[in-house]
Amino acid sequence: MPNDLMTQTVEGDRIAYRHIQGDIPLDLADGTFISITRNPALRIYALGFQPAKSIPEIPRWFLHKYAGEPKVVLDPFAGSGTTIIEALQQNCPAYWLDYHPLSRLICRVKTTEISPEEVLEAASKTIGNAAGRDNAPTTVNFSNKDFWFQKPVQEGLELLKHYILKASPRNQPLLWLAFASTVRKTSNMNDGMLLAARRPHIEKIPERSREDVLEYFKFYVNKAIEAAVEWYPFLQKSRGEAKELPLGDAKSLDGLFRCDAIATSPPYINAIDYVWASKFELHWLGLVKNDAERLELYSREIGTERIPRKECKELGKTGHSYLDSLIEDIYTGRKYKASRGQNELRARVVYKYFTDMRNHFISSWAHLRSGGYYCFSIGDASRICGVEIPVASLLAEIACELGFREKERFHILLKNRRLNIPRNVDWARTIKHDTTIVLEKPDES
Ligand SMILES: C[S@@+](CC[C@H](N)C(=O)[O-])C[C@H]1O[C@@H](n2cnc3c(N)ncnc32)[C@H](O)[C@@H]1O
Repeated sequence: MPNDLMTQTVEGDRIAYRHIQGDIPLDLADGTFISITRNPALRIYALGFQPAKSIPEIPRWFLHKYAGEPKVVLDPFAGSGTTIIEALQQNCPAYWLDYHPLSRLICRVKTTEISPEEVLEAASKTIGNAAGRDNAPTTVNFSNKDFWFQKPVQEGLELLKHYILKASPRNQPLLWLAFASTVRKTSNMNDGMLLAARRPHIEKIPERSREDVLEYFKFYVNKAIEAAVEWYPFLQKSRGEAKELPLGDAKSLDGLFRCDAIATSPPYINAIDYVWASKFELHWLGLVKNDAERLELYSREIGTERIPRKECKELGKTGHSYLDSLIEDIYTGRKYKASRGQNELRARVVYKYFTDMRNHFISSWAHLRSGGYYCFSIGDASRICGVEIPVASLLAEIACELGFREKERFHILLKNRRLNIPRNVDWARTIKHDTTIVLEKPDES
C-alpha cells in the first residue's frame, strides 16, 4: 500500500483514504476519498461566525483546476466568504450573495479595506463613551433575552450598540463584527454551543459585569484588525474585485450578470439552522426587528423546517423517482415512526430542500456561460427518520437532469467539524464526509 494511503472503517464500510498534507492535488482520481492535514491558513478565514465554514483548500483546488485567471466566479451561498477570499487571491473577480444578513456583514468586512488606525480610534472612543455612561437604554427585545443575557451584560451591549451607531459608517462594519463576537461570548451559552436551546446540560456561566463586555469587545476588535492587516496586502495585490449581488435568495438569481464558474457550499439538510444559530447576533445587531421577522427570515432558508402544518400533510413529489421513494419512506415512517407530525414535517423538509436546490440550479444555469463549471461541496449523506438520503449524489443527479454534466467528485473525511454534532440515535447520523462535485455546463456552440 502506498505510504499516503490509510484505511479506516466508517459506519461499517472499510474505506481507503489518500492522506493529503496541505493543498489538494489537481490530479486526484475521480471518486477518491481523502483526509487532509491542513497547513496554517490566513486568519481572515476564521473571522466571523459561520457554523458550516468550508475549508479553503476546496475552492482553491477548483479555481486552480477549472477557473483560472481572469475568470469571473460566483458564490451564491457565500457564508463567511471562503470562496471570495480564494478567488481574490487567484485574481478572479467574484460575485457573491447570501440571504443571511450576518454573512453579508462578514463578507463586506473581508472585502472592504479600511484604515486599522481609524477603526482602533473609533473602537477606543466607543469603549470610553460606553464606560463613562451610567444609564443604559433598552432597545433590544427578543424571546428569552433575560435567560441568555445577564443584566449587566445587557447594559454593556446596549451602550456599545448606542456608541457604535455614532461611529463613522466607514468604520462601523468591523465594529459590528467585533460586537457580534462579543454578543456570543458574553451570552449564557457555553463555549462551543451552537444553538440557544434551554437544555439541562448547560453549565452555569460566571457572573459578568459591564466591564467584561467592554473588555471582550476590545479583544475582538483587535483580533479582527490583526486578521485584516494580514489579509490586506493580498486584497491590494488582487486584480480581481469582489461584488455583492443585491439579491436575497439563491433560489432565484435575478439580474444581468454572467459568470465563468460557480464555487460554493450549499446549506446542509437536516443539520444546521443558520438563523437559530445566530439568533443573538441577529437581534443585538438590529439585523431583524423582532422574533417574527427572524422567523420570517428562517422561512427563506434552503433547508428550512418552518413549514406550515397544512403543507406538511401533502406528500410532495419531485419527479425524481428514487428521491420520491425516500420522501415517501420518511412520510410513512417505514423505518422510524417519530412523534406526532414529525414524519410528515421531515418528509416535507426533504421535498422542499431538493425543490429549492433544483430552482437554484435552473437559475444558476442562466448566468453561467456555456462551457463553465459549477463546483459544490456538501455533506455526503443525511439519515432522516432512519432513511439514508445521499444528498450530494441526488443534487448532482438533479443538476444533470437539467443539462449539467458531472466531471468528477472526491470525498473528504470530516474532522473536528462543529457541525458534526454526535447524535446518539440510530435514526439520525453524523455527516462523515464532505463530497465535492464538479459539474460542467456543456458548450453547445
Ligand atoms: C454551508 S454555508 C456556506 C459556508 C461558506 N462556504 C463558508 O465557508 O463560510 C451555506 C450558506 O447558505 C446560506 N443560505 C441558506 N439559504 C439561502 C438562500 N435561500 N439563499 C442564499 N443563501 C442561503 C446560509 O446563510 C449559509 O451562509
